[in-house]
Amino acid sequence: MTEKQTVLVTGASGLLGRSIVSELEKNSGFTIIKCAFSRTRDGYVKMNLLNEADIQETLQRFRPCAVIHCAAERFPNKVEENLEEVKKLNVRASEVLALEADKIGAFIIYISTDYVFDGLNPPYSEDSVPNPVNKYGATKLLGEKAVLGVNPANVVLRVPVLYGPVTSIEESAITVLLKAVREEKPQLVSDIEIRYPSHTEDISYIVHQLLKLKLNLKWNI
Ligand SMILES: NC(=O)c1ccc[n+]([C@@H]2O[C@H](COP(=O)([O-])OP(=O)(O)OC[C@H]3O[C@@H](n4cnc5c(N)ncnc54)[C@H](OP(=O)(O)O)[C@@H]3O)[C@@H](O)[C@H]2O)c1
Repeated sequence: MTEKQTVLVTGASGLLGRSIVSELEKNSGFTIIKCAFSRTRDGYVKMNLLNEADIQETLQRFRPCAVIHCAAERFPNKVEENLEEVKKLNVRASEVLALEADKIGAFIIYISTDYVFDGLNPPYSEDSVPNPVNKYGATKLLGEKAVLGVNPANVVLRVPVLYGPVTSIEESAITVLLKAVREEKPQLVSDIEIRYPSHTEDISYIVHQLLKLKLNLKWNI
């Protein structure tokens, strides 16, 4: 019997991470290591991405063949307010994770965002030149560069605004609109952006296919 391959998911307690874990747990033969920080519960491993020794120990302990890196600060207002701290998570931690993954021969699937683009000339392709217009997009782009700088064979997946099963209505930028509607009073919302929300289950399916492709398993669409 062959041993199961191990896949480590960072941000496994988050909106997208939960969905990726559930896709991989129901459909794959992988052993999944679910890493979270403040929301660890049974079956989750606590890893503080701001602690480089913690990253090293966790990767050495589980020796995954792939790391799906979801953890980030993704609320643009929080990034604006706390840029230097956020860079430690969105940029430096991504680099350290890539360096430690590289040491054990693992690759990274880095979840990025369409916020790396300015939105002036859509649609965008993989070769389009990024031009983030907010600090969140800028930190995610730096994270992309850090991860690809360590190993160009790592994968960057840029996803648009997400919706899916939420733990609170504020968790997704889509469901939070429902809260605004329910309040039945005038609200300030942007009317200049055209966005293309994606369901977390669809992104999780794509991540699963990418993972299998990278591991040369069956391409199953
Ligand atoms: N949500 C969107 O609309 C959207 C759109 C485009 C791209 N993205 C990208 O998709 C990825 C996943 O986003 P998401 O919406 O699932 O994020 P999320 O719900 O905000 O979850 C963030 C995750 O990061 C973890 N985390 C935070 N600080 C940490 C630390 N110091 N050490 C370890 N883990 C830490 C959190 O763990 P705890 O909660 O356990 O502390 C949580 O699991 C991100 O990279 C984001 O940039 C998201």
